[in-house]
Amino acid sequence: MSKKLSYEKVFAQSINEPDVFWGEAAEEIKWEKKWEKVLDDSRKPFYRWFTGGELNTCYNAVDYHVEEVRGDQVAIIYDSPVTNTIQKITYSEFLDEVSRFAGVLASLGVVKGDTVIIYMPMIPEALVAMLACARIGAVHSVVFGGFAPNELAIRIEDAKPKVMVSASCGIEAKKIIPYKPLLNEAINIATHKPEKCVIYQRPQVTAELQPGRDYDWAEVMKDAKPADCVTVSATDPLYILYTSGTTGKPKGVMRDNGGHAVALKWSMKYLYGINPGEVYWAASDVGWVVGHSYIVYAPLLTGCTTIVYEGKPVGTPDPGAFWRVISEHNVSVLFTAPTAFRAIKKEDPNGEYLKKYDLSSFRYLFLAGERLDPDTYHWASDMLKIPVIDHWWQTETGWGIAANCMGIEPFPVKAGSPTKAVPGYNVQIVDHDGKGLPSGQDGYVVVKLPLPPGCLPTLWNDDERYLDYVTEIPGYYLTGDGGYVDEDGYLFIMGRVDDVINVAGHRLSTGAMEEIVAKHQDVAECAVLGANDQLKGEVPIGFAVLKAGVDRDHDEISRELVQMVRSELGAVACFKECAIVKALPKTRSGKTLRATMRKIANSEEYTVPSTIEDESVLGIIEEAAKGIGYGK
Ligand code: COA
Ligand code: AMP
Repeated sequence: MSKKLSYEKVFAQSINEPDVFWGEAAEEIKWEKKWEKVLDDSRKPFYRWFTGGELNTCYNAVDYHVEEVRGDQVAIIYDSPVTNTIQKITYSEFLDEVSRFAGVLASLGVVKGDTVIIYMPMIPEALVAMLACARIGAVHSVVFGGFAPNELAIRIEDAKPKVMVSASCGIEAKKIIPYKPLLNEAINIATHKPEKCVIYQRPQVTAELQPGRDYDWAEVMKDAKPADCVTVSATDPLYILYTSGTTGKPKGVMRDNGGHAVALKWSMKYLYGINPGEVYWAASDVGWVVGHSYIVYAPLLTGCTTIVYEGKPVGTPDPGAFWRVISEHNVSVLFTAPTAFRAIKKEDPNGEYLKKYDLSSFRYLFLAGERLDPDTYHWASDMLKIPVIDHWWQTETGWGIAANCMGIEPFPVKAGSPTKAVPGYNVQIVDHDGKGLPSGQDGYVVVKLPLPPGCLPTLWNDDERYLDYVTEIPGYYLTGDGGYVDEDGYLFIMGRVDDVINVAGHRLSTGAMEEIVAKHQDVAECAVLGANDQLKGEVPIGFAVLKAGVDRDHDEISRELVQMVRSELGAVACFKECAIVKALPKTRSGKTLRATMRKIANSEEYTVPSTIEDESVLGIIEEAAKGIGYGK
């Protein structure tokens, strides 16, 4: 085996000579026209990569492999324990599907630059729709199936899709969720109306189609004419992925074509240490960034086999589900969220199910999406006896910011740390004023600009809001996370410094939930915060103050508030508890003391803030937290 490159050398070059470093990485991609500039910093702080270059992402992810040697290799394994299905699709078959669906979209009037919303469960057709958009230069926006119609409507309003692609239903373990009523409701709510919808009818549910607007996927695919790849600029948008910010309005993270393809392909080799032809499995959902990058684009760009898994880590049918998939499909690398491993550990603490399977193909386990707690790290590495790698990233970056890179000389692991910055990311810890902090001291985790290729160049139609990331501390990208670097240079990410929480690896905004709770006719004001949860990492809990004169039953109001969040944001929010309280703790200037409330809910020691207006309110919160199962 060839000796791995030294991290220090690779990292230093990525920061000191980004043009050389990323220029070399870009040689792995097939370009229609070579770039003029690797890094274009002519419009700081808006940096662009590979300006002047032209390519097609779908060509690189599909056609190229068929033209070379991989036509008969399996591109996608659809493994669905919830429908008892295993389906294998070769690169040639995938190319046929994608180019015909691209033809369908074109026949419905979709042209380069148009947007298409994809609201689909974990079925191969979701990938077909995504790649078909990329093929004709359309910009897709995949919306996670667990979001309620209102959230979908917000995304329709912002992305203004010409066409929407959906399926008749999703299957959540044993629940069948008809999607079409949700889609119809979202379109009704939004003022922007898509011209056409294409619906994939699944055998479990037949959706009613609206004549003139809705088309049956199978019908339109029958006579579809394949469409060719449309060349786009490296800087043209490939997709928009909405993610939670601190308010009810999600942020439309934009991803370009060129930098994205270069960075993801580089990451497969050097971060994940995986080779073309191997089986790579990201157990996530296409609706999240992990799904976009590592179920769809990165494995396909690399010529790997990717797994589309429609199931859960437990209950479909048992906690051996992941081991079954790894062993049956010879998975080399698995990537999932720590919460999935906590779920398996809870049901099978001694790894009895693990013993039933041959996991000899399994080389590395990568975890991300939330902090990997040391207990889960130790359990996974003791059970599996392979490297367990915590890596840190976010929707905005689209790929790892910090990791123990398996394709570069790795470091010894420190539990609780995602190790060190990935080449390309100049990570620093700073205070409020952007002053660098010494090792061991907690601060804001920032990345010195420019961010490497693949990261967001801006937000969709919202340069102004993008600037919030890069102007608060000039010259740096604010990740929204807090943490520190220890004396050996290891990074520790300790949690968000804003109102974003991570529930079972799903990113949600407590601000968005507060906006929903505050709409209730009886609520005067409220606070929603993340409380620690053994399985899901964090769950949101609420505290609501009622308007004067409301004398309805508190439990009933509380149930209504829980239901409102479920139906407006979605079941995925896991908002199950909301206490009714007489008052919220505030500073004298009227700011709600959410951080103190969070400490109370998590039974952590806290000091009474000197700015508090009325200290006795903390007692009210302590009582209320206890009443809903939190605090001491
Ligand atoms: N469509 C509709 N509803 C969905 C959904 C989807 N795609 N995904 C989740 N939901 C619903 C669930 O059915 C559940 O509803 P309920 O309140 O009626 O039970 C609710 O949203 C919460 O879902 P979830 O947080 O996933 O909880 P769970 O109890 O169903 O499963 C885990 C818990 C840990 C097993 C699961 O979250 C998991 O596997 N997570 C790790 C992998 C992952 O997806 N990571 C994401 C980023 S890497
Ligand atoms: P998302 O955009 O959904 O990927 O969520 C990104 C956020 O998840 C980050 O800003 C972190 O707060 C958190 N996160 C992701 N990976 C890790 C990790 N390995 N360790 C700690 N936090 C993480």
